[in-house]
Amino acid sequence: MPEIFINGQSVQAADNQSVLEAARASGYYIPYFCWHPKLSVAGNCRICVVQVEGRSWVEIACNMPVTEGLRVFTDSDLVKAHRKMVMQFLTLNHPVDCGICDKAGECTLQDYHYAYNGAPSISHEPKVRSTKFHDLSARIVLDNERCIVCSRCVRFTHEISKSCALGIKHRGDESLVRASEDGALDRDPYSDNVVDICPVGALLSRQFLHKARVWYLKPTPSVCPGCARGCTVQIWHRKPEWRLKALDPKQNARIDRVTPLENPAVNGPWICNKGRDLAAILERARAEAPMLKGKPVELAAAIDAARRLLGAAKRPVALVSSWGSNEELAAFKSALSARVDAFVKEDSTPAPGERLDDDLLIRADKNPNTTAARALFAQLPNPAVFPADTDLVLVWGEGFDFARIPAGARIIFLNAWLQPENGHADVFFPVSIQTERPGHYTNFQGVVSAFEPCFPKPPGVADAESLFAALGAQGQP
Ligand code: SF4
Ligand code: SF4
Ligand code: FES
Repeated sequence: MPEIFINGQSVQAADNQSVLEAARASGYYIPYFCWHPKLSVAGNCRICVVQVEGRSWVEIACNMPVTEGLRVFTDSDLVKAHRKMVMQFLTLNHPVDCGICDKAGECTLQDYHYAYNGAPSISHEPKVRSTKFHDLSARIVLDNERCIVCSRCVRFTHEISKSCALGIKHRGDESLVRASEDGALDRDPYSDNVVDICPVGALLSRQFLHKARVWYLKPTPSVCPGCARGCTVQIWHRKPEWRLKALDPKQNARIDRVTPLENPAVNGPWICNKGRDLAAILERARAEAPMLKGKPVELAAAIDAARRLLGAAKRPVALVSSWGSNEELAAFKSALSARVDAFVKEDSTPAPGERLDDDLLIRADKNPNTTAARALFAQLPNPAVFPADTDLVLVWGEGFDFARIPAGARIIFLNAWLQPENGHADVFFPVSIQTERPGHYTNFQGVVSAFEPCFPKPPGVADAESLFAALGAQGQP
């Protein structure tokens, strides 16, 4: 544990830390562009300079190991002058088109410009022009004029996703980040993390391109349901006070983007692209009306009908959702498990071409809460085998082929989405999804993560948890 001194104050550093890491850990701020806590040190942006006591020059803190008794200054006149020069150099050819840049409001270059520079570029030469809106992949657009060639994106693909999809070609002010070969970044299922770690507005998500200013948006903590990893994420949506009155109300209640919510116990600072595409999962057309054999009814009538079916059934079987929250699974267990034989089913299976699993995050089980469901209920055998005298099947969640339900058995179905099977059930309940209610999932390692609601439930939709309580309370024989 070396003791170092930052601006004259004693700091206990950890062995093998850099001065930048020791400073961050003890509350001193040293600016950085190219350094990232999960990537190797590149040392190319030079903004993190500090001055060692007694020296008349500056050195970069991200690559300076702590040593016993080291004394550094983060804000000497020499450091300030050098930072200002670095900022002037980095903005020399920068287009300063912040007004149309999606990174505005989250851009380190903007922040440091105001914090350390504040002066315009001093070159008398015209700015070097470069490629704008280069298609790096189908998902990512690159603006080379904004790139400060920090190499974070390149190192991410070499060190984290291991696709080696990006490199830098040419040198000096002609340097260009480019895909290593055609389609290389398209094949990287973690590619969109480079948009997050780009410190400037050079890498942009096509999904989010010019869609909204970030200061009109609000992040709600959530959990990706895309696989059993259960990465924690932030679902960004419009702030209520910035609702656009002229638009369809649905435009104000949509997922604008999804970013990782850093969680050392689960996903670190990363998520895969499926997690970014939650809108494709959670914004499918919704079922909004309870039904009896395909005819819309009031919720109370559907609950009465389901109670009667449960009360009359001699051999009811339930297929429990592996997308149900811990709270919903517990509610099902306490309300109904004494009356029905319950089995956990897979709501979701890998899509064609989807990566099955890997060593970084992606898991083969494409359901978020199999672990919690399996702790309470047995797994449904594959193929499903029902007892011969099954006369009622309660199906909770999507993904089960109704053709496998024994002929003649009555069906109670709880589902969130508009699907043909809804009309085939004797009783159908539309249920809420995770963006409409709070809850928890337990991932494959047993880590429990919380999600919070960000949108109201559509009218006619019920929470599965309250439905189970209502069915259990009145369904006693
Ligand atoms: S595109 Fe962004 S992350 Fe990549 S080198 Fe340029 S500034 Fe760095
Ligand atoms: S690894 Fe799994 S849980 Fe994490 S973002 Fe991807 S699909 Fe979602
Ligand atoms: S952060 Fe140290 S050189 Fe870039």
